Amino acid sequence: MKISKRLKTIASLVPDNTYVVDVGCDHGLLDIYLSLNNHYCIASDISKKCIEKVKENIKKYQVQDKVIPVCTDGITNIEIPENTCLILSGLGTKTIIDIINKCPLDNINSIIIQSNNELDILRFKMMKKFHLEDEISIYDKNIFYVVMKWAKGSITYNDKELYLGSILPIKKESKKYYQFLLEKNQNILSKIPSNHLEKKQLLEKQIKWLEETLKD
Ligand SMILES: C[S@@+](CC[C@H](N)C(=O)[O-])C[C@H]1O[C@@H](n2cnc3c(N)ncnc32)[C@H](O)[C@@H]1O
Repeated sequence: MKISKRLKTIASLVPDNTYVVDVGCDHGLLDIYLSLNNHYCIASDISKKCIEKVKENIKKYQVQDKVIPVCTDGITNIEIPENTCLILSGLGTKTIIDIINKCPLDNINSIIIQSNNELDILRFKMMKKFHLEDEISIYDKNIFYVVMKWAKGSITYNDKELYLGSILPIKKESKKYYQFLLEKNQNILSKIPSNHLEKKQLLEKQIKWLEETLKD
């Protein structure tokens, strides 16, 4: 079956022999794809309409024994199976962190996240209990995305790592993403009124980090 480059990247980070709990699954196509590649999944979404679509897709691909659809807010009433990879993608950082904070972590072995915003805040909140195992930047349908894989165990990232990531900077293919961020920040900086000093200073710092990384 065909899924987007973004969803394929997420799937590529799911460890073998793990259960998957995909929160905010929408149509559930990622879960169908994973189930066709030997994973058992709980595909959950807060929207009844989405879960109806998931049920249709489960039927279409005949994976009734591998994907369980659940309509719920976050992980409410979901019993996390042993050895679970939790997936939160296409959601905002605040929602992602709220869901993780309510999640019992005993059975979680990894968390894959693709947040739509505030990646520095996401890394800051996550590092209290988790560390980055991988980060991948991708360009899909004219949008840059960062997909992160987290494992248990806290770590401390400095401000530059919180902004750029800790693994992305060592990957050659991240350059395009950083170049995009650099141009975006330069553009914002050029439009910021001079009395917005704090915002200006932050942007200047981020631009300096991006320029340094692009030079390496
Ligand atoms: C933009 S879609 C992303 C779908 C899919 N995960 C992906 O990456 O393509 C976000 C989905 O999250 C669901 N959602 C938003 N808040 C949620 C919550 N608190 N609990 C469960 N699902 C939620 C929405 O209904 C929507 O289907």
